[in-house]
Amino acid sequence: MTDLIPELRTPVAPDGTGPVQSGMAVSRVDGRAKVTGAAQYAAEVAAPDLAYGVVVTSTVARGRIKAIDATAALGVPGVIDVLTHENRPKMRAHDLAYKDMTAPGGSPFRPLFSSRVFWSGQPVALVVAETFEAARHAARLVGVTYDVEEHDTDMLAGLHKAYAPRPMTPGFAPPKSKGDATQAWNSAPVKIEAEYYNAVEHHNPMEMFASTVVVGADGHLTIYDKTQSSQNSRWYVSHVFGLGKDKVTVRNPYVGGAFGAGLRPQYQLPLAVMAALQLKRSVRVVLTRQQMFSFGHRPETWHRVRLAADAVGKLQAVWHEAVQETSRLEDYVQVVVNWSGHLYACDNIHLDYRLVEQDRATPIDMRAPGAAHGVHAMEVAMDELAYALRMDPLELRLTNYAEHDHLDDKPYSSKELRQCYRLGADRFGWHDRPIEPRSMRAGDELVGWGMATGVWDSLVMIARASAVLHADGRLVVSSAASDIGTGTYTVMAMIAAERLGLPLERVTFQLGDSTLPLAPVEGGSSHVTTVGGAVAGACDKLKNTLFKLARCRDDGLFKECKPKDVEFSGGRLHLLGQPERGVALADVLAQAGRDRVEEKFFMTPQLLKQRKFARAVHSAVFVEVRVNERLGMVRVTRAVSAVAAGRIINAKTAASQVSGAVVWGISQALHEETFTDHRLGRFMNHDFAEYHVAVNADIPDVQVIFADEEDRIVSRQLGAKGVGEIGIVGVAAAVANAVFHATGKRLRTTPITPDKLL
Ligand code: MOS
Repeated sequence: MTDLIPELRTPVAPDGTGPVQSGMAVSRVDGRAKVTGAAQYAAEVAAPDLAYGVVVTSTVARGRIKAIDATAALGVPGVIDVLTHENRPKMRAHDLAYKDMTAPGGSPFRPLFSSRVFWSGQPVALVVAETFEAARHAARLVGVTYDVEEHDTDMLAGLHKAYAPRPMTPGFAPPKSKGDATQAWNSAPVKIEAEYYNAVEHHNPMEMFASTVVVGADGHLTIYDKTQSSQNSRWYVSHVFGLGKDKVTVRNPYVGGAFGAGLRPQYQLPLAVMAALQLKRSVRVVLTRQQMFSFGHRPETWHRVRLAADAVGKLQAVWHEAVQETSRLEDYVQVVVNWSGHLYACDNIHLDYRLVEQDRATPIDMRAPGAAHGVHAMEVAMDELAYALRMDPLELRLTNYAEHDHLDDKPYSSKELRQCYRLGADRFGWHDRPIEPRSMRAGDELVGWGMATGVWDSLVMIARASAVLHADGRLVVSSAASDIGTGTYTVMAMIAAERLGLPLERVTFQLGDSTLPLAPVEGGSSHVTTVGGAVAGACDKLKNTLFKLARCRDDGLFKECKPKDVEFSGGRLHLLGQPERGVALADVLAQAGRDRVEEKFFMTPQLLKQRKFARAVHSAVFVEVRVNERLGMVRVTRAVSAVAAGRIINAKTAASQVSGAVVWGISQALHEETFTDHRLGRFMNHDFAEYHVAVNADIPDVQVIFADEEDRIVSRQLGAKGVGEIGIVGVAAAVANAVFHATGKRLRTTPITPDKLL
């Protein structure tokens, strides 16, 4: 039975919003709650008798804790306890207990489990006090001494140590090769070879990672957690602490951005639970912005790419190898090089991907993990090949357009990339581009135009949803989905409202509670196809049930009708095309003597059908840069992103996803880099003063175009493919290519900072 959980404060569209259809631009139903402060985030939930935990982190990158002296900290008025590996409550020892739903192969980190230190910034103690201020002060007084061991954080110096990853992550397939790329490259008339490098980047969502653990009278834990899956956090807490499913509920009704950092439980969650169990009272732990740099990050990546073409630009060989860092604990893997084998038509493809172990926290997915770096290298290389051929870069891509997937030798379930190239190039005005670098100027600045292709998976997972029509005609649809700012509340409510012909304000989509029907992590741009499919399925079943109830009515209006003879609109069930000949949905329930009708649906992908197809979303990105050569400054002055991502459900939230991702791509291209002091094995610029992210002044008008596309293989119910991550892919390459066009300087690393241009 799924009814509204009041504590979630689920948002609903304002009165007067009216009927909706997929493709419409609909404002977020949670927008008002967010800007007025009615939305509560994990660190804001009130609880009686709440204690506050502040984390102490290691200052060395590798070694063992020799001793922890908590005397001074415990002497601070208001301090309740200092938890360490020596006095923590019982936790399971086995690796498997710490595996969350998205854990890579290897042994997950076990917080405060032992004296072992794996990275600089690892949590080593938790100070708990009556106030946050007392805990924060006392945390500075905890004295930790270490037996220090030699560390290694320099991946570039350790490239020779690279090894093939154990492919133990769900969804990860090691790259395969095809034909003989080495031979083809050797004998081709036109070729390029180059090395590329992408620096470490960190997630910087607005909301800090936080967990508020509320201990009930019966010992039940209700945990408000910043996560991309309440059910993943619930599962993790149950396994780590040996607590039954009915003893723990995790909630995440509002999440202030996550971008992949919330795909795995972060360490504040087990620390907060540990303290709550130890003290038998409610505890909140919030990480600081600096501590947000002390867990997963987008790993630095080194690449070598070789491309070869015949005299007219037909690709003869694609050769892409990448090396990426991981931790000592786990083989974090992402799909880095595979995209290079899928992007273009080519018979000779060599792909290789290896890892180097470092004394750092395990990297974690960050928006379009793998593709954001892999496609950067490949698409800059394509630009280099275009110049080697003296060919327009867009023309080179069209010459090598893959009508089917060459690496897997499968047709595409849908692929409107050609439309993206055309629509994007027209909107941008690409056709007027002189090919020669350094041929456009505006005042003091050189002007350059660059483009790139983007690609990302079309994922579908499994999910359940329930749909309940209440006697008052209100529809409540539920699934343990998440809305990390992407628009889940809005889009799911739209799907349900359209299915049942209800005004949007009559539909509540409830998410963010681990007791709701099964939903996967909100990741991989899969929530619309997956949870959306479950919502559509549950609503279709509900319609059928309502139709059957209506057929039994006394007036016999629908007696002879088949489902195709009726429709749902305006809150009514009526004869097709005759809105006046029908009945309000509330009356269907009333006359059947029911106060609610509920249907559930279990959404599963059409695996057998899908296996026969390559499934991807595509984009074409065009940017203009202006470069001041004397200062080495690059400004992006225009950006157009044309995306083919199946049917778009909400034109507004989808465009926001893409433009936000383009902003991040520009930020990746020009600003974002976390520097390591290898003597200390520590990230140095762990705050907004020194880790630069793009701000409003860095961002021009970003135009988003959606190609006309529909995909019933990926999404039987909706024809959609998912739109979150594609927006960032290719952007950094387009910027780098534009910088080359402006200056004639080929820059093969991200970010492109002024020092590299001078
Ligand atoms: Mo996304 S990096 O799968 O949250």
